[in-house]
Amino acid sequence: MADLDQRAAEILNANDRGGFTVPSARLYPHQWNWDSAIAALGFAEFDLDRAWTEIETLFEGQWPNGMVPHIIFRHDGADYFPGPSVWGCEGSPPTSGHSQPPVAATVVRALYERDRSAGARRARALLPKLLAWHRWFHETRDPEGRGVIAATHPWESGRDNAPDWDAAMARVDPQGVTAYARHDIHEVDPAMRPTQDDYDRYVRIIEWGRAASWDHLRITREGPLAVADPGLTFILARADRDLSALAEALGETARAAEIAAWIDRAAEGAALLWQDHLRSYAALDLRSGLPADGVSSVGFLAFYAGLSDPRRDARLLATLDRILSSAPFGVPSFDPAHPKFDARRYWRGPTWPVMNYLIGRGLEEAGLVDTASRVRADTRRLIESAGFYEYFDPRDGSGAGASDFTWTAAVWLAWASPSNA
Ligand code: DGY
Repeated sequence: MADLDQRAAEILNANDRGGFTVPSARLYPHQWNWDSAIAALGFAEFDLDRAWTEIETLFEGQWPNGMVPHIIFRHDGADYFPGPSVWGCEGSPPTSGHSQPPVAATVVRALYERDRSAGARRARALLPKLLAWHRWFHETRDPEGRGVIAATHPWESGRDNAPDWDAAMARVDPQGVTAYARHDIHEVDPAMRPTQDDYDRYVRIIEWGRAASWDHLRITREGPLAVADPGLTFILARADRDLSALAEALGETARAAEIAAWIDRAAEGAALLWQDHLRSYAALDLRSGLPADGVSSVGFLAFYAGLSDPRRDARLLATLDRILSSAPFGVPSFDPAHPKFDARRYWRGPTWPVMNYLIGRGLEEAGLVDTASRVRADTRRLIESAGFYEYFDPRDGSGAGASDFTWTAAVWLAWASPSNA
C-alpha cells in the first residue's frame, strides 16, 4: 500500500469505535448518517466485512416510521452539542430528530457488487430497511409529490450554513432560544464554522420539532424551514436507482413499481429546481416559492442522479467549468464570484472531498471525462499536499475544519488515490 493509502486506513481504524466510526474524534464524537455510509466505502477497500457492519449499525438507529436519523448518539458524555436531551427523541439508541442525505443504498449496492455471494444475505436484510427510509423521504419530505425533497433543518441537508438557506433562516426567530454552550468552536477556528446567529436558529428549529413531537409530516408542512434541496433530491434520486437495481439483482421485485414512480418523479423535480438565469439547479424555498440566489456545488449532482437533460446539461457543465477556472482547488461549495462566498467557512465556499467524489462520479458516468479528471486530480492534490482535512480553502488548498477526517480518508481510498486508477 502506498503511504497515503496506509495513512487513510489508519484514520478509519482510529475513528472506529467498534462497529461504527465517528466522523472526527473530537468534533463529531458519535455516529453520523452519511459519514458512516461513505466510511463504509473506505473500509470496503481493505475490509469488506467491516464495511457491511458500518451500514448495519447505522440502521440500528432507524425509527419505526422508516426515518434514519442524522446522528445516533453512542454514549452519554457531554462532549457534543446538541446532545440527546436537546432533541428529546424517544427510542433507543438515542438519536437526532431528522435525517441526512441518503447515500446508503448506493453504498450497499457497491458493497454487494464487490462480492455477491458474501453480500447477498446482508443486502437482503438491509433492503426493506432502505426501502422504508426512502419511502419516508418521499412521503414526508415531498408530501405534495412534486419530485423535490425538502430539508426541514439545514443539518438535514448535510450542508449546515450553505447560502441556500439564508432567506429561510432569516425568517426563523431566534428570540427566546434556551441557553446553550457550543463545543464546536473550541475544536475548530470559529471563522471556519457557522456563526452564533446560525446556531441560535438551528436550536430554535430543533425546539419546534421537539414541541411537535417530531411529527415529520407536520414539520415539513408547518415548521420553521422547508427548502427543496438539490442535494437531497439528487442523492435520493441516485439512491432510488441503486435500490431498484439491487432489488432486481436479489430477485425482490415486489416494490419495483413504487420505486420506478419515485425515479420518474425526480425528473419533474429537477425541472422545478432548474434556474435558467443561474445556469444551474438551485434550492427552492417552499414557503416563499423563491430560489436561492447563487450556485452551490450540489447542483452539479444532477449528473450523479442520472438526470441528464439535453436542454440543461451543456449549460450546467459550462457553469461548473467557469467555477473551476476561478478556483485553483475545486469544487468550491459555493460560487467564488458571488458576494456571499467565504473561502474557509464550512459550506459557504470550501472544497469538500466528499462532494468532489459524488460530483466526480457523476461526471465520469456521464462521459464528461475532462471535467471529471480535473475534479479527481484536485481532490488528490489537496489531500497529498495538506492532509486528510474535513474541507479545504479552494484558493490555496490549505486544510480547514477538523483533521484526520473519516470521510476524507474514505474518499481517498475509494476514489482519489492513484492506486485506484
Ligand atoms: C454539526 O454539529 O456541526 C453537524 O454538522 C450537525 O450535524
